[in-house]
Amino acid sequence: ATASALPFPIPANVHAERVVSVTHYTDRLFSFRITRPQSLRFRSGEFVMIGLPNAEKPVYRAYSVASPAWDDELEFYSIKVQDGPLTQHLQKIQPGDIVLLRPKPTGTLVLDALTPGKRVFMIATGTGIAPFASLIREPETYDKFEQVILTNTCRDAADLQYGNELAAMASEDPLIGEMAGGKLVYYATTTREETPNMGRITTLIENGKLFSDLGIRPLDPATDRVMLCGSMAMIKDVAALLEARGFTEGSNSAPAEFVLERAFVG
Ligand code: A2P
Repeated sequence: ATASALPFPIPANVHAERVVSVTHYTDRLFSFRITRPQSLRFRSGEFVMIGLPNAEKPVYRAYSVASPAWDDELEFYSIKVQDGPLTQHLQKIQPGDIVLLRPKPTGTLVLDALTPGKRVFMIATGTGIAPFASLIREPETYDKFEQVILTNTCRDAADLQYGNELAAMASEDPLIGEMAGGKLVYYATTTREETPNMGRITTLIENGKLFSDLGIRPLDPATDRVMLCGSMAMIKDVAALLEARGFTEGSNSAPAEFVLERAFVG
């Protein structure tokens, strides 16, 4: 549909952007890319509010930008909920359609909210990998850290596809591969479907399997920084586990050893 053919006017003070591409992974997961407003500035890891021009008062939901800050398009990774106020419609978007974007990106999963360190662990479940999709393609991540460990835990193997392709791409892409070169470590596990790598990330941290599988040192607040995004329960449990190990939660105004944000549209 062209803007002039839309049944509702585009609300004031929002960006109306075009869908560039859509990729469906499972009946519950898809990603899409849209054009980026020239004026939209954000830090890798932040989220924006997204809506559709299908109502007088559009429904907006928070979405982490999955593309890095230097990209001239915006990428998002989403679940599909059959009766979800936004995602029941959003899952049907096609290239050329309009997506609405509120202008103010924000969020705590940013490098600025962490104090300097040697390793950064990015711990994701489900669509919580989206902000890390941005950060592992961000040069500043590799300027600030010697090692970047991304973990991705989902119920089933098919749910890991987006993260698997992203990690492979980050290593293979000539530009990102050069900066990520040898620094990016990717560890994916499932919790329900049988795969070679299984287990909740909490279990794998506590029993040390995460570290022994990767051949790396256990967590140490003196050198390590951690970013958490995913299910509320996972975040709560990993945060408690980190605090027990001497990590303090940081924010934009008071950077510290770990930061968290629940995956949106959960
Ligand atoms: P599990 O299958 O054992 O519940 P969800 O799809 O419910 O958002 O969960 C995404 C992933 O997060 C699943 O693999 C799930 O494992 C895991 N998970 C859920 N709760 C926790 C928790 N409290 N600690 C660690 N992982 C969790």
